[in-house]
Amino acid sequence: MHGKGFGGGKVILVGEHAVVHGKPAIAAGVHRGVTATASRAERDLLRIAPWGVAVAPDTDGDDPLARAFAAVLSGYHPRPSLRLDAEVSLPAGAGLGCSAALGVAILDAVDHALDVERSRVTLAELAMAWEREFHGTPSGIDNTTAALGGLLRFEHGVRTRALSARRLLHLVVADSGHASETKQMVARVRAGRDADPDTFSRTLRDMGEIVNNAESFIRLGDVASLGIALDENHDILARLGLSTPRIESMCGDARRAGALGAKVTGAGGGGCIVALAEDADHAVRVRRALGPRAFVEEVGRAA
Ligand code: MEV
Repeated sequence: MHGKGFGGGKVILVGEHAVVHGKPAIAAGVHRGVTATASRAERDLLRIAPWGVAVAPDTDGDDPLARAFAAVLSGYHPRPSLRLDAEVSLPAGAGLGCSAALGVAILDAVDHALDVERSRVTLAELAMAWEREFHGTPSGIDNTTAALGGLLRFEHGVRTRALSARRLLHLVVADSGHASETKQMVARVRAGRDADPDTFSRTLRDMGEIVNNAESFIRLGDVASLGIALDENHDILARLGLSTPRIESMCGDARRAGALGAKVTGAGGGGCIVALAEDADHAVRVRRALGPRAFVEEVGRAA
């Protein structure tokens, strides 16, 4: 008895944080992610090879990973004891949805091992219980993109839509090397909202508009305007205290290399930036400007 599963990483193009407060956001799945293997064992155990981590499920413990693992396993009964081995090819705490990818990969692997059939949409919903153990009040965008991949418009309580792009989007993703905690960044934004609700509601309105415009630019293949939308979104996130000097300097490097737009992506406070390039050759030049850890993703093919 053996099952394999996959959960993909993601970049948020526009709308992060506002999406926690009921606004839409647009995310793209990336090819890097997490693969997991489930096999029958003497006792339940989750091993994450690159991190040197091995945890048993523990519903009430202090370790969110052990609680999340317990939450996932509690959905299967009866079942044999299982060992999960995960291979992670995403940086953690970098805004690329590593925890959601892990949760989706584990659920997917257990499903395959136990011959459970379900849609990727249901898989995404189930992974929400996993995400809650790490992020408290996640919007659901990370687990949805981890399960479905592609280019998506996500809004809490509204059916997620795959977007078709008239032109392929050439994205460059680069890691600042400084990890941050989504939970803390979400709390930072919430504190800002509580301190000045009027400004925050204007900010949310602006973010919603940026996302709607970005969706039109994607549909029309207007990458120049989409780049401007990315920059505008970045400015708002920076005003919310979610950028860092390193992120600013990386966005500057990307723009000097001709990127059409560049922004912090995901929770911010560190983590990654995403930059939009003109075409595949230009993406390579932007990637070079961002250093050896940057990578290129093409998104928007045949939604
Ligand atoms: C994290 O990838 C995106 C946030 O908007 C949090 C969430 O949506 O749950 C910051």
